[in-house]
Amino acid sequence: MTEKRIIIFDTTLRDGEQCPGASLTPKEKLEIARQLARLKVDVIEAGFPVSSQGEVEAVRLISKEVKGPVIAGLSRAIRKDLEVCLKALEGARKKRVHLFLATSRIHMEFKLKKSEQEVMDIAVKEVRQARKFVDDVEFSPEDASRSNPEFLVKLIREVIRAGATTINIPDTVGYAIPDKFGELIHYLIREIPDLAQGVVLSVHCHNDLGLATANSLAAVLNGARQVECTINGIGERAGNTSLEEVVMALKTREDFYGVTTGIDTTQIHPASRLVSHLTGMVVQPNKAIVGANAFAHEAGIHQDGVIKKAITYEIMDPKSVGLSGSTLVIGKHSGRHAFLERLKQLGYELKEDQVERAFELFKELADKKKDVFDEDLTALIEQEIVGEPCLWELDHFTITSGDAATPKATLGLSKDGKVLEATMTGDGPVDACFKTIEKITGVKGALLDYSTRSVTRGKDALGEVSVRVSSGKRLVSGRGLSTDVIEASIKAYLSAINRLAVLAERIPGDHP
Ligand code: KIV
Ligand code: ZN
Repeated sequence: MTEKRIIIFDTTLRDGEQCPGASLTPKEKLEIARQLARLKVDVIEAGFPVSSQGEVEAVRLISKEVKGPVIAGLSRAIRKDLEVCLKALEGARKKRVHLFLATSRIHMEFKLKKSEQEVMDIAVKEVRQARKFVDDVEFSPEDASRSNPEFLVKLIREVIRAGATTINIPDTVGYAIPDKFGELIHYLIREIPDLAQGVVLSVHCHNDLGLATANSLAAVLNGARQVECTINGIGERAGNTSLEEVVMALKTREDFYGVTTGIDTTQIHPASRLVSHLTGMVVQPNKAIVGANAFAHEAGIHQDGVIKKAITYEIMDPKSVGLSGSTLVIGKHSGRHAFLERLKQLGYELKEDQVERAFELFKELADKKKDVFDEDLTALIEQEIVGEPCLWELDHFTITSGDAATPKATLGLSKDGKVLEATMTGDGPVDACFKTIEKITGVKGALLDYSTRSVTRGKDALGEVSVRVSSGKRLVSGRGLSTDVIEASIKAYLSAINRLAVLAERIPGDHP
């Protein structure tokens, strides 16, 4: 029976860390390695020990601490590298040495300055040497996708004879295209029977043309049994094949590929967040599987569909990759259905007569703000619907201020369907507004506290102004919300003044 399980070889800590600006300390690498073990990757390539003392430490630490996956160390086919690599891996329960040597004409001629025969001899010698110390040896003919296929076949046969247990075919410079890469894999398996039996054929693709995932999947279709990849697709230049894309493609389209992986896919998002946080490599919002928008629906029609049946617009269950659910991005494209559904999720079941008003207010806010977050909705409902004594309401306002001008506010406040307007000056625009409110309402207060904070995210965040106002013995507070801080201040003060007015009406004797 053919093997149906694809080995997931994670190289986030080696090739992934090679991406500019993503260097990690040994402790950070250990933290990621522990998460990779929870994700149940089969192999963790922990580092390239000869490259620095930090790499040695990281590989040593991970070898000692992380149980479950095989721990691999990278080594050039150079005796010194191999010795350092073997030493760093000493503590690992299951260890692998990953040797590489370039085989393309371009690399052999310009970089190595060696002939095919010399390259073959070195590869065979170092694989044989490695096998004296470990049972698990992977060999990569670097730049394989640009190497002469006949030479590749000869060399791979020899390194297998020398003891290599995995042969990895790297598309080092991301030059391959899926059909051709698939053909190469097919050709190698046909020409080297060991690759169809005991020896594992692996692929390692770079993303220079944005084809790393497609190339890896084409290889799987043609018989590759191991895929090398990184979390979030980080890596040298444009990165490596992204683990989450390959794993979820194989899972979602198992009907087509007919293979599985051992990955616990619910650990994908935690892994993505950890890698992004520790490397400082931000995940682009539209990145497949792990981008912030990967399970977010904005269009009203899509939102309506997802509420009715998720499968209308979702090919994967967000829970299967470790999210709590999909997101309906509540914004100006959202319809009433999505808006009410989100309110329900937030615990607000509005009465019929409240729905109209709430939806109207929401649309007003959505026009001012790009995304309306849960905090915005809660704030909106609490302030506008759940209740607040509302004798006076803000109808309109204009402010004049500036370097030379004395701040002046004109406000229109409505009560019982009538709008009263007044204009006052003040020490600042907020002070002018407060004085105008007092003039119109006839209620005077002393401002004890004024504070402002942003309650939501983004440059167009909702600001909340809180005030504490006293009048005689009475102390009241008020809150106002708006994307405009002056409007929020007016609403806050007006709500406090309304409270004072209601108290005065309801308990007149107590009012000084
Ligand atoms: O891209 C590459 O060729 C590599 C090898 C070391 C496998 O990373
Ligand atoms: Zn690579």
